[in-house]
Amino acid sequence: MDCPYIGILVDGLVYSGFKKGYTYFECLPYYEEAGRNNHFIPCYFRLKDINPGNSTITAYVLGEGNNYDLQVIPKPTIIHNRGLFFTKMARSKIASLQKEGIILFNSWNRYEKLQVHELLTKKSSLRSYLPETVKASKDHMEEMMSKHDELIIKPSSGSLGNSIIKVAKVSNENWEIIFQKNKSLVKESFANIKWPEKLITIVSNPRYIIQQRIPLATYQASPFDLRVSVQRNGIGEWQVSGIVGKVAQKGMYVTNLAKGGTSRPLSVLLQDLPHLNLEDVSTTIKNFSIEIAEQLGEHIPYLADIGLDIGITNEGFPMFIECNARDLRITFRNANMMDEWKATHITPLNYAIFLMKNNQKHKEGEQ
Ligand SMILES: Nc1ncnc2c1ncn2[C@@H]1O[C@H](COP(=O)(O)OP(=O)(O)OP(=O)(O)O)[C@@H](O)[C@H]1O
Ligand SMILES: [Mg+2]
Repeated sequence: MDCPYIGILVDGLVYSGFKKGYTYFECLPYYEEAGRNNHFIPCYFRLKDINPGNSTITAYVLGEGNNYDLQVIPKPTIIHNRGLFFTKMARSKIASLQKEGIILFNSWNRYEKLQVHELLTKKSSLRSYLPETVKASKDHMEEMMSKHDELIIKPSSGSLGNSIIKVAKVSNENWEIIFQKNKSLVKESFANIKWPEKLITIVSNPRYIIQQRIPLATYQASPFDLRVSVQRNGIGEWQVSGIVGKVAQKGMYVTNLAKGGTSRPLSVLLQDLPHLNLEDVSTTIKNFSIEIAEQLGEHIPYLADIGLDIGITNEGFPMFIECNARDLRITFRNANMMDEWKATHITPLNYAIFLMKNNQKHKEGEQ
């Protein structure tokens, strides 16, 4: 092989952990194991450590004494992106590296929830699994209130469960808005024609979306949804590396771990839904998630590793909630699903090897 290194592009937080010996949500021993099994060396660096035009980089590499050392090494040609890059400068640097022939996969960072919804809507077979979603505006809110009894209003771009508001019909003309303020839940009732200030402000913000609320199935009376890791594997195909449940904290309507949610295996959650069969639900979720990944992968270049939030109704009907470009994967670790946690680290590196071999075949073909 040309270059024995596979790059793992990390953010500043993870990078700072190399010195401390604690790399947050990244489990390096799994990357190292994938390296040993495939005869390559993982190397870790930030976007500022790699430059178009240069043939070397300074990166952390596992050294002799099982410690990570900074080494000057040949610039890797295949890079697994584990950072999140939003600035124009970062994006243009990534584009320059890609122009040089470097494959930096999962470089996606531009797609907002509304755009993802639009990409998925293009595929007719997926449409009935997508909650109705529109850009926030007063007109759209009125329209959505006339169609649905429960709505979610949330930022179109990442929130970790923050700023998510629920609006629900209580009776004919009466509604209630529920949101978090200073760690506690606030509920305000209102009549259809007289909206509270909070609602007017939020639906006037075009960076928010209004979405039909999926009637999520419950576990011990709290709604839950599923985190599904979908990744390209060692033969370049999409696979589901793990499915894990996230249960909302008592009284909450968001399941994010950052908002007090807890992660649990699907088998545990289905104990509260005895009419559903674990194997059937798992198969449905897997097929559905792969179809979503394939559809997104057709439109988003280099997409290879996503974490989907999928809701299921009490009848086991799957509905798409959102797609995370950089799944932190810790939901699996927190549910003690170590095989799945490991698979989420190993699979993208197997894909990296697949890309490397493909690259090589390509080069040999050109000679
Ligand atoms: N349409 C919906 N129906 C039911 N529940 C929803 C809906 N939208 C969001 N939720 C709940 O809120 C949680 C957070 O919403 P979502 O996953 O869309 O955004 P986020 O996690 O805050 O975004 P990000 O992952 O980008 O930080 C979901 O996991 C789900 O529990
Ligand atoms: Mg989410």
